[in-house]
Amino acid sequence: MSPLSIQLPEPPKLDKKYLSRRTQDLKPSGIRKFFDIAAMMDDVISLGVGEPDFTTPAPILEAGIDSLMKGDTHYTSNAGLAELRDAMAAHLQKLYGVTYNPATEILFSVGGSEALYLAATALLNPGDEVIIPTPCFVAYQAEVALTGGVPVEVPCCFENNFEPDPKEIEAAITPNTKAILLGFPCNPTGAVASRETLLAIAALAVKHDLIVISDEIYDRLVYGVEHVCFAALPGMWERTIFLGGFSKDYAMTGWRIGFAAAPAGILQGMLRVHQYTIMSAPTMAQRGALEALLTGESYVLQMKKEYDRRRKLIVRRLNEMGLPTFEPKGAFYAFPKVDGTGLTSDEFATRLLEEEMVAVVPGEAFGAGGDGYVRCSYATAYEKIEEAMNRMERFVKRL
Ligand SMILES: Cc1ncc(COP(=O)(O)O)c(C=O)c1O
Repeated sequence: MSPLSIQLPEPPKLDKKYLSRRTQDLKPSGIRKFFDIAAMMDDVISLGVGEPDFTTPAPILEAGIDSLMKGDTHYTSNAGLAELRDAMAAHLQKLYGVTYNPATEILFSVGGSEALYLAATALLNPGDEVIIPTPCFVAYQAEVALTGGVPVEVPCCFENNFEPDPKEIEAAITPNTKAILLGFPCNPTGAVASRETLLAIAALAVKHDLIVISDEIYDRLVYGVEHVCFAALPGMWERTIFLGGFSKDYAMTGWRIGFAAAPAGILQGMLRVHQYTIMSAPTMAQRGALEALLTGESYVLQMKKEYDRRRKLIVRRLNEMGLPTFEPKGAFYAFPKVDGTGLTSDEFATRLLEEEMVAVVPGEAFGAGGDGYVRCSYATAYEKIEEAMNRMERFVKRL
């Protein structure tokens, strides 16, 4: 790897005497390094971050502020405000035709991240295996490992539009497999799993009696294709833990609000973990989320339209500069193939940052199959993406 002129201070060493083995075994996220370095440089254009550049829409902000000003500064019920659970049940019914009882089958969490932690903690015994199509969100393997579970990566490939191959998933199933963890639309590839693929995975879940954890946090950000809600597939409601949130669709990352919906027998187990770790999601964030569900639709559509414009730009420019880039159909990431340049993805990202001050994330941060790619987020202004593409093209031409 070429050395960067800006070096991060060495992180403090972990205390091996006291920390649990599980904690010691967690790898630092491969994303953070590039953010931290980019933050220390001037004139960097960051395509590294996985969050909307938009500020949360005004009515949602106002709902949060209002709730604070009214003194709504207390805990809510563990699962979340009853009105919010009712609104979410209605929302999921309307969007996907799935029916969840708001009294027992929905809970609000501190971001989708906590919901993921709850699912893993509530489901897994030590040694239980979870099949994870990769490249994927960096927390999946870690959340499974933290519970003593075993993440089993099944790489998705460019040639298959980064969709999981059900045959490969089946080949990875063992007597210890407890669940399949799906994250579509996908961070980092932008892939959307087709109905056909998901139906084939659903058949495997029945055949091998598996639970499916379906992280659909980017559900509203799909471009010209349908988002298939896994729980809505025939026979899947009863074996799906449906995870989602407000961070991406409504530009609410800092509010820390997400949700899980699942059959009561499972959701109530997750609620127990939530009750003792978190108590309740932040009250003002729940008020903001309620406003988002009630009046946020036009903002979702506006933001999606702008992401789509940027998506077209970035995919065209990356392909034109000779970096083969699959057309992402969801989320807000492009995943160009950079190994043709002769550099590894880490070298590519490091040198691009050093020489042209554009931050991207090396694909290997996202698990098996990510090597040879970099993730470019287009959740940044159109003009900045244009400039980043000019810089990147200059860089690629020099190689
Ligand atoms: C696929 C996926 N799931 C879950 C999350 C967590 O989101 P949050 O905790 O902000 O709701 C992220 C964030 O990047 C993500 O990309």
